[in-house]
Amino acid sequence: MSLFSRKPKETASITYVSHTGASQTFDVPLGTSVMEGGVRNGVEEIVAECGGACICATCHVFVDEAYLPLLDPIEAGENEMLGNTLVKRQPNSRLSCQIQVTKSLDGMVVHTPEAQV
Ligand code: FES
Repeated sequence: MSLFSRKPKETASITYVSHTGASQTFDVPLGTSVMEGGVRNGVEEIVAECGGACICATCHVFVDEAYLPLLDPIEAGENEMLGNTLVKRQPNSRLSCQIQVTKSLDGMVVHTPEAQV
């Protein structure tokens, strides 16, 4: 197979690090959310009670600082829900259901809080 016949990568590698430091990396399909990538791969620290409707705040993650500038800005609904996280919001807090996986996020690391509910 030549370099030119390769299919473009349709996933991005996302690493989920728990509060204990345990790390899991998965290839998450582009267009899905970081929350979906975690839930589908059994990342227990992402609870996602509302299934991505931005009304539960149980998909809270801390995004590696290097990737923050690559994310879409926090919208009003997410901003409001970030005020309801069990573990206190930090400057790099986001709701993982609101982060759409794109090629530019390939290699991103998110840290999960000690508890979500
Ligand atoms: S899954 Fe409920 S706010 Fe993200």
